Amino acid sequence: MKVRVGIEALAFAVPHRYVEIEDLARARGVDPNKFTQGLGARQMAVAEPGEDAVALAATAGRRLLALGADPSKIGFLAVGTETGVDHSKPIASFVQGLLKLPRTMRTFDTQHACYGGTAALMAATEWIASGAGAGRTAMVLCADVARYGLSTAGEPTQGAAAVALLVSESPDVLELDVGLSGSFSADVHDFWRPVGRRDALVDGHYSMECYLQALAGAYRGWRDRALAREVIRPSEAPTSEQLARVLYHVPFCKMAKKAHAAVRLAELEERAGGPLDEAALAAEAPVAAARFASQVAPSLDLCSRIGNAYTASLYLSLTGLLHAQGAELAGQRIGLFSYGSGCASEFFSGVVGKRAAERISAIGVEALLERRERVSIPEYERILSLPPDAPLANDPPEGEVRYAGTVDHKRTYRG
Ligand code: CAA
Repeated sequence: MKVRVGIEALAFAVPHRYVEIEDLARARGVDPNKFTQGLGARQMAVAEPGEDAVALAATAGRRLLALGADPSKIGFLAVGTETGVDHSKPIASFVQGLLKLPRTMRTFDTQHACYGGTAALMAATEWIASGAGAGRTAMVLCADVARYGLSTAGEPTQGAAAVALLVSESPDVLELDVGLSGSFSADVHDFWRPVGRRDALVDGHYSMECYLQALAGAYRGWRDRALAREVIRPSEAPTSEQLARVLYHVPFCKMAKKAHAAVRLAELEERAGGPLDEAALAAEAPVAAARFASQVAPSLDLCSRIGNAYTASLYLSLTGLLHAQGAELAGQRIGLFSYGSGCASEFFSGVVGKRAAERISAIGVEALLERRERVSIPEYERILSLPPDAPLANDPPEGEVRYAGTVDHKRTYRG
């Protein structure tokens, strides 16, 4: 019998402070339209040292448990991250202790830049689909703090967040098309963070090329399998139009627009047997804009208010989409593209569950964003210049976890 597997519930955590992206532009002497229209950003989360990837992951995981996930049924805990805190001890292990989860579970972290969360989700899904889970559930956490350094080109594309996913045989939020995905990977240096550095290094424009090349390969792989399994039909129009919505990894919102246009153009060129001429390109432009507005834009609000959260970004798009349109999308198939620099990527799909809207409304998305504090650019600069082990200024708010200092080379957490 085919087992249904997917996301049963989700929750997220964001830092308590943010900057308005227009304030950052003005402070850097840049036209604010570059950041708002050129990159598609509105606000950017600012993590203090206490809000590291462990603290964010544990807070998101705790919220998932508060939504009703039964800890005694969890047999698998995997954390996707590229901003881990120890070369040996995984974040999963810290979270297991902080949330007092059972000891009879598999725990590990997955790392491949922003793709690490999807690697964890796929491992959890296949663990359940294979029968190895024997009816148990999996908790998947995606947690990261994105830092590029002050006054760099990457500065307006920072952010931080964690998303917690409960993966099970009751996919109330999103039933995944198990085994129906396309992968693309390559050895490239588009974005990396050498050991010991807090800020990432990036070859920005090249990283966008790598992203689009990976997307082309991964989408083609998914499409070929989807056609073979008759999940989509051959058509004159780009097959991506058969997906109700398409979610992309969102390093900045404009990237999702470029990505969707590239998927469409590749299919149109394939059909035409070569590059489109100027007239065909001019005719495609308004259609691509309309398709972006209906298929992609509804997923971007949350990302535009948080910024890049590396492994968590794709799952923030999912949260944002279902927050906005969960009820109307019930029963419809959506596509998801995960990209991690370096690079690894995967295009996959799933069907939105009938209880998705109800599950997402339980999170209180707006309340979590509204309780954040807006900070000035000097205050943001002060926070980013704090050493990683700066002492906590205040006790963590109710229900949240914070890094509280290192004792005898062991990291401690409070909350
Ligand atoms: N008004 C409106 N738009 C303006 C403008 C203005 N006054 N001035 C510039 N723009 C537009 C530009 O035309 C451009 O838009 P298009 O790409 O559509 O032409 C956009 O604003 C950005 O301008 P630039 O390309 O000149 O910006 P930049 O070179 O300063 O930096 C960046 C952009 C390379 C993305 C940089 O922010 C960066 O390096 N970010 C980090 C890397 C990144 O996010 N890469 C994405 C792919 S890799 C990945 O996805 C993994 C990951 O998470 C890191």
